[in-house]
Parts: sequence; structure tokens; C-alpha cells
Amino acid sequence: MTSFSDPNDIENQKIGEIFQQQTKYNPDKLTDYALDWSRRPDPFKNHESPLAYISLPDPEIKTDANLWRLLRQRRSIRDYNAERGLDKGHLSILLWAMQGITAKYGEYHLRTAPSAGALYPVETYIFSRSIEGLETGIYHFRPQVFDLELLKRGDYARELTDATLGQTIVMLAQVTFVWSAMVERSKWKYRQRAYRYIYLDAGHIAQNLYLAAEGLGLGACAIGALFDDSVNTILGIDGIKETVIYMATVGWPK
Ligand SMILES: Cc1cc2nc3c(=O)[nH]c(=O)nc-3n(C[C@H](O)[C@H](O)[C@H](O)COP(=O)(O)O)c2cc1C
Repeated sequence: MTSFSDPNDIENQKIGEIFQQQTKYNPDKLTDYALDWSRRPDPFKNHESPLAYISLPDPEIKTDANLWRLLRQRRSIRDYNAERGLDKGHLSILLWAMQGITAKYGEYHLRTAPSAGALYPVETYIFSRSIEGLETGIYHFRPQVFDLELLKRGDYARELTDATLGQTIVMLAQVTFVWSAMVERSKWKYRQRAYRYIYLDAGHIAQNLYLAAEGLGLGACAIGALFDDSVNTILGIDGIKETVIYMATVGWPK
């Protein structure tokens, strides 16, 4: 069994183990930490000059999907019918299921997926390959407005495939979701422990996507195997203050 006698002994430990040990809450060491509300990061990201703003239809849920059936049936689907398009209504429902704002509580905009401290550090980007009425390109989702910012026109399927260690599912999927973390949003409160919570938040979001896709008759597949900085470059983010953490494809199952 690995022993962690000295958490500061970097020579003899691996970074993941150091991280896990040094971000533990410990009842003997827990100190009061006053939040500086004047330095609270903006809870929402807006791009300064996107190519366009694209409105989305209200998420109109027509099917009465049964949660227990969805839980039983959900699988990671990697083989899609590449020819068939998705419509914007599907996209709206998927985005709402992942990150829709469902209540307001003081300063906080609560969402479909839980988030540590209601800080919502995760941003959602999409690569739309085949969605009717939406140009092929890279977009950023704004949950507070419920719209998309068009960031880049063009087919990024090849680049995203290369950036996901050659996973060609990106070339077949109608849409690929990319989740990044605005690290400071969570670090402002949780400091280094924030990194744990960011990944947990992303997991909740992805499971909501899986279940919503299943409810719509679509298939989803999570992607954790990715070259971080290649994806960061595609999104136009710095990889430090904001960095990719997770992705998922969605398409019509074959
Ligand atoms: C964190 C995480 C990362 C994953 N990364 C990938 C991936 O890069 N490529 C892929 O094809 N599947 C990926 N998956 C899907 C898993 O392979 C899949 O969930 C697992 O085999 C169980 O199958 P199921 O989802 O159909 O139940 C990932 C799943 C998780 C939770």
C-alpha cells in the first residue's frame, strides 16, 4: 500500500497523489477564510466580439421520458448516422438539461446540474457539425441569456479528432460539446480544493447530457482522452485561467 507519511516529500510522490493529499480537508487544520466579495469573479462569460449571436428556441420537452428507463438504457454510443441532421430544438433541450437556469436565489442562478457553492465554473462550447439552421462552427453557450455566441465558422471535425487522440466519433456526431473551467470562479472560494469540485461539476453536467440525449432518442459519448492545449487553442482559451476539462459527442445512433 502506498504511504503518505510526508505530503511535502515531492521527490517520492506523484503529482496526482500530492494533489489528493494536499487538498484534503482536515478538521485540525481547517481555518476560517473570509471571502472577498469585491473580488468575486463574474459568474457568466461573455465574449467581447463574437461573429454573431444565435438565439435558441425555448427547450420544449415533448416526450415524457421515464427516468428509470433512461437510467437502465443509457450507454455510451459511438456509432452515429452521420447523414441525419439534428434540429435546434434538440440542441436547446440538451443545453437546458446540462446547464439550464431553473431558479434564482439572491445572487445565485441555480441550474439543472448541481455545482459546489453554486459557483458554476464550467462553461459549455459546442462544435456544431450538422444542426439544421446553424452554421458549422464553434459556439459558446450563454445560459443566462440562453443563446449561442458564434466564435469560429468552419468544420473543426478533423482538428477535434486529432485533439482527441484520433477519436473519429467527432466526425460522425452531429454535435460535440466541450466543457471548460473558469478556474478562478471556484478558486475564489475553495482555493486549491476547487480543482476537485470543478471535475465533479463536469461529471454532473455530462450525466445530465447522457440522460437527456437518451430521452430524445440520441446517443452520447463522453470524451476524457484529449490533448488539452490542442482543444484550448481551438476554443481560443489560455489553458490556465480557463482550460478544457471534458468533452462529449451526441448524434443519432445507427
Ligand atoms: C471521465 C470519462 C472519460 C471518458 N472518456 C472517453 C473517451 O475518451 N472516449 C470514449 O470513447 N469513451 C469515453 N468514456 C466513456 C466510457 O468508456 C464509458 O462510459 C464506459 O465504457 C462505460 O460504458 P457506458 O457509458 O456505455 O455504460 C469516458 C467516460 C468517462 C466517465
